[in-house]
Amino acid sequence: MKRNEFLKTLGFGSAVLGMSEVLLSGCMDMSGMDAVAPEIRLGDFTTPLPIPPTFGSGTALNAHNLDASVLAGKVGGVMGYGNSILGPTIRIQQGSTVTLPFTNGLSEDTNIHWHGLLIPSNMDGHPDQMVKAGKSFNYSFTIDQPAGMAWYHPHPHMNTGRQVFMGLAGIFIVESPEEKKLNLPAGEFELPLVIQDKRVDSKGGLVYNPSMGEVMIGYMGDIITVNGASAPLQKVTARMYRLRVLNGSNARIYNLALSNDSSFTIIGSDGGMLTSPETVKSLLLAPGERVDLLVDFSTMAQRDEVYLQSNVFTGADSQGKQSFRIMKFVVDKTGTERFQMPGVFPNVPSIPMSSASRTRKFDIGVSMGGGGHKMGKMKGMHSINGKTYESGRIDESVMLNSTEIWEFDNSKGDEPHPMHIHGVSFQVLGRVGGRGGLSPHEKGWKDTVLVMPKEVVRVIMRFQHAGKFVFHCHNLEHEDDGMMLNFEVK
Ligand code: C2O
Ligand code: CU
Ligand code: CU
Repeated sequence: MKRNEFLKTLGFGSAVLGMSEVLLSGCMDMSGMDAVAPEIRLGDFTTPLPIPPTFGSGTALNAHNLDASVLAGKVGGVMGYGNSILGPTIRIQQGSTVTLPFTNGLSEDTNIHWHGLLIPSNMDGHPDQMVKAGKSFNYSFTIDQPAGMAWYHPHPHMNTGRQVFMGLAGIFIVESPEEKKLNLPAGEFELPLVIQDKRVDSKGGLVYNPSMGEVMIGYMGDIITVNGASAPLQKVTARMYRLRVLNGSNARIYNLALSNDSSFTIIGSDGGMLTSPETVKSLLLAPGERVDLLVDFSTMAQRDEVYLQSNVFTGADSQGKQSFRIMKFVVDKTGTERFQMPGVFPNVPSIPMSSASRTRKFDIGVSMGGGGHKMGKMKGMHSINGKTYESGRIDESVMLNSTEIWEFDNSKGDEPHPMHIHGVSFQVLGRVGGRGGLSPHEKGWKDTVLVMPKEVVRVIMRFQHAGKFVFHCHNLEHEDDGMMLNFEVK
């Protein structure tokens, strides 16, 4: 947020700029530090889960305003890429070239970033590459990466949070022959789940108006939607399902679990399958992260119900205090299929630490509360190494085809930061402090990693695409506040 916008938010005109520092410091302590996630309102879990249509190359995407029913019984203003909130699911074979003609039907700048796709920088949807209102752009690239689930969303600097919140996001699935051989649940037994928290006005339209406190902690909603519908219901057959989950929320972290306390199996993460399945009872999923799950309904009887829910978690002062339901599954058919867990998963060779030519350290624990704030520089209460985003400045220069270790240090911080790097898939080397160690879903290709307060997380990656990219916190209010830097690969 820019200084004068900040002041406007507080109700001061530009005439009082001279005295603003005093006012700001007093105000921030009150509104920033005490902000917490709003409590989730209970839904009724009767709306059938919407499944976005699936298309391939050639699909026209048109960002525009439309009316949709997010909350059952109400219809209000949202944004979407097609005929509904969100966008179609794009499904592409590894190795193929995709063309996606995009039109900006909004009255403001937008673009598309392909989060998790390893594509050239001129197609990546960098904040420099805006498509003006009414204009079009042809996104075209070749898919050269393992099977997995990426996603797409706008990336205008200082407006990403609002556009994503209003409904601009979609799923991008990469398939491969190697994955096909695993015979995972497919068709109606494979469900993409985009989990997002929202706030609606009395008519049912989405409302995005973060207060200063919500710029601090991120904008969180009081209803939970899956694929754009609040508190949905999915009827299932008593058998194994593949749930492909995206946390598409601006700031909310979910501690995913099943209401009957059953375990479930993680088979993949952001950038593809794990080398071996990981069975868990819960899983912390931060904004931007994806997880590929196998959930077994085969032992359930007809009409049995189970909820996907979020359990309480610790580590963040601003959220995690409430457990709430996300969506309901009801068994309505007996299953016949005998699912066989694949014996061999795709090999994900670890990148040896010895191949890294250097280590870069990023202090992400500096915020107003962390003592790193400099008075008189109001843009950016969230920063990386004390810097906030400048479009024309290259913050890090990386050699093409080199391997590096990046360390995100939140040891002095008091807020969770899901850190995301464009243009690469990385491997998580380790986590010190906080939760320590690696989460099960971090044992594979990642592009977004949650760094909780007190944690230092190291990742390793090879830079295989030249050009200018960004890396940033995927708490979208933090990102819009400037917690984003440029790096150039050449
Ligand atoms: Cu999903 Cu740069 O973001
Ligand atoms: Cu991205
Ligand atoms: Cu952050």
